[in-house]
Amino acid sequence: MSQLLNKKFKRVLSIETSCDDTSVAVVRSDGFVEGLISANQDSFHEPFGGIVPEIAGRNHTLHLLPLIDQLLSDTKISFDDIQGLVVTNRPGLVGSLLVGISTVKTLAQILELPFIGVNHLEGHLQAGFLSDEKHAAVKIEYPYVALAVSGGHSTIYLMHDFGRYEVLGATLDDAAGEAFDKFAKMLGLGFPGGIRVDQHAKNGDAKKYDFPRSMIKENNADMSFSGLKSSAARMLQSMTADEILQNREDLCASFQAAVVDVLVEKLNWAIQKTNCRRAIVTGGVSANSLLRQRCEAWSVKNNIQLVVPPLRYCTDNAAMIGFAGIQRLNKGEFGDLTMGPSPSSLSIDFIGQNR
Ligand code: KG4
Ligand code: ZN
Repeated sequence: MSQLLNKKFKRVLSIETSCDDTSVAVVRSDGFVEGLISANQDSFHEPFGGIVPEIAGRNHTLHLLPLIDQLLSDTKISFDDIQGLVVTNRPGLVGSLLVGISTVKTLAQILELPFIGVNHLEGHLQAGFLSDEKHAAVKIEYPYVALAVSGGHSTIYLMHDFGRYEVLGATLDDAAGEAFDKFAKMLGLGFPGGIRVDQHAKNGDAKKYDFPRSMIKENNADMSFSGLKSSAARMLQSMTADEILQNREDLCASFQAAVVDVLVEKLNWAIQKTNCRRAIVTGGVSANSLLRQRCEAWSVKNNIQLVVPPLRYCTDNAAMIGFAGIQRLNKGEFGDLTMGPSPSSLSIDFIGQNR
C-alpha cells in the first residue's frame, strides 16, 4: 500500500456506465485525452420515450468489452501502458453502474492494477479541463463557481479545491435537461429531447410565448422547472395539433429562453454572492447553443473567466471520469473489492446541502 501511496499515475483507463451511454477512455494526469469511444443507446430507448433501466444495463454488458478492445487498438495503447483504472460508481442506475464496476474490479484483479470509483458529477465538474489534439488545455484557479446542468441534476457549486465542492443551490424538482426532454416529448420531437429543442429553436421567436421563470428573482441559487413543464403542458393542450406544428420553432425558442434565463441568472447570483470572478458551466445541458452564447456574453460583460467544455465533453463520457479519478489516485485514494454502486451521491461527496 505504501508503494501505491507514492506512485504517480500518468495514465488511466476509465469507464462510464451510469446511465445510458457506454463510454471508455484513456486519460493522462494532465487531462489530455488519448482516446475516447462511446456507444450511444438512443435508438433502443426512443420507442419508450425515455431511458429504460433494464435495457440500459443489458446494452452496457453487450458494448463495454468490445469498446475497450477498440479503444486500445485505436490508440495503440496496451494494458501495460496503463497504471490505474477508474469507474463511475455513483450516482446512477444501479444495474448500469454494476456493469462498469464489475468490469473494473475484474480487470484490476487480472492486471494487478489499482482502481477507484468516482462520483459522476465530479466527472462533469472536471470536464472543462480536458484537452486533446483539437482542444488546448484550460486552467482555472480555485475557488470558482460551477453550474452543472444535466438530465438528472441542476446544481450550483462553490468549488473550493479539488474534492471540496460546496452546494450553493439546486433544482427543487426537475433538472433542466429533464425539463427539455419532457417538453420535447410533449411536442412529439422524440428522445433525447434537449438537442432537438435546441435545433428547432434556432429559427424560432423566443418572445412569442411567455413561459414562467420560476424562482428567478429569489435571493438564492435554487431553481424549479416543474412549473415551467406544467405551464408548457397547459399551453399545448390549448392549441390544436396544426397550431403546435406550425409554431413548433417559436415554442422551442420560447421554452429554451425560459430555462436559459433562469440558469444564467442563478449563475450570476452565485458569482455576486461569492465574489468569485471565475466560473464553469458543465453537464449535458451545457451543450445547449443558447446557454453557451448567453454565458459567453455574460462573462465578457462582467469580466468573468468562463470555462465551458468542448461539446464532446458536455454530455456523458468516460474521459471526464478518468480525469476526476486520476487526480484522486494521485492523492492516494483507492477503491477496494467491497466497492459497490450507489443510486445517489454520498454525504462525503459535497459540502452543504447534499442534493
Ligand atoms: O450529462 P448528460 O449527458 O447525462 C446526465 O448525466 O444526465 O445530460 C443529458 C441531458 C439530457 O437531458 C439532454 O436532453 C440534455 O442533457 N442535452 C441538452 C442538449 N444536449 C443534451 N439540453 C439542451 N440542449 C442541448 N443541446
Ligand atoms: Zn451526466
